[in-house]
Amino acid sequence: MSRRRQIYEGKAKILYEGPEPGTIIQYFKDDATAFNAEKKGTINGKGVINNRISEHIFTLLGHIGIPTHFIRRLNMREQLVKQVEIVPIEVIVRNVAAGSLSKRLGIEEGTPLPHTLLEYCYKDDALGDPLVAEEHIACFGWASQEEMQDISAMAIRINDFMAGMFAGIGIRLVDFKLEFGRVFEGDFSRIILADEISPDGCRLWDIKTDEKLDKDRFRRDLGGEAEAYQEVARRLGLFPEGVSEVTDLNSERKKRGK
Ligand code: TMP
Repeated sequence: MSRRRQIYEGKAKILYEGPEPGTIIQYFKDDATAFNAEKKGTINGKGVINNRISEHIFTLLGHIGIPTHFIRRLNMREQLVKQVEIVPIEVIVRNVAAGSLSKRLGIEEGTPLPHTLLEYCYKDDALGDPLVAEEHIACFGWASQEEMQDISAMAIRINDFMAGMFAGIGIRLVDFKLEFGRVFEGDFSRIILADEISPDGCRLWDIKTDEKLDKDRFRRDLGGEAEAYQEVARRLGLFPEGVSEVTDLNSERKKRGK
C-alpha cells in the first residue's frame, strides 16, 4: 500500500492513484476533526464503518439513478472510485434546524423546517468554508448555472431517498453534507456525486429518543462516538456479525504497530 502514489491527504481520508487511469482509491482513516480541524481526535474503527456505510448508501443511490463516483469497495478501509474534478462547494441539505443554522438564525435545534433547505459553502479551509449564495457561485465561476441545477436536483432526490431510508430504521435525517465532481467525456463534463456519505457528514438522531448517532458526539464531547457509528451500521444491516470486524481490524493494526 505504501508504494502507491498518494494524491491527497484530507482530514478523514487519503486518496491514492487507482489501478487504471481515471480511478482513485479512497482510504478511510479513523481520524476525526471538527471546527476546521481546531479539534482533532480519533474514533476507533470509524474508517471501517464509514467505508461500509458510504458503499451501502452510494450503491442504493446508484440503484435509483443518481450517478456517483463509487465503483467498488476493495477492502475494509478502501474503495475504488472514479476520479473527478471536485466542485469546490459543500452542499448542505437540512430537514430540521441544528448546528450552524440554529446558531446563525437563532432557531432552536430540533425545529422541523417547513421545507428542505439547501445551503452552499465554498470549500476553502483557510477561509473556514464560508456560506455562500448561488450568486457567488455563478459570479466566481465555481460551478455553472446548469451544473447547479443538476446539483440541487440531485441533492433533493438524495435527501428524499435517504430520509426515507433512515426513517425506516428509526433515525431522523436532520441534515447532511454532499460533494459533487465533474467527469469529462470528450468535450463535455457531467456532474456526479463524490466524496462519502457517513455519520461524519450527517446529523442522525434516534427518532424516539433524539439521541445523536453522528459526529456531533465528537464535536460536542458527548462520548460514545464509536458506538454511535456502529449503531447506525447495525441498523442499516451492515456488519451483521456485530462489531467483531471492526475490533479485529483494530487489533490487527496494533499488531502491525500502525
Ligand atoms: P453545520 O450545522 O455545522 O453547518 O453542519 C451541517 C451538516 O454538514 C452536518 O450534518 C455536518 C456536515 N458538515 C460536514 O460534513 N463538514 C463540515 O465541514 C461542516 C461544517 C458540516
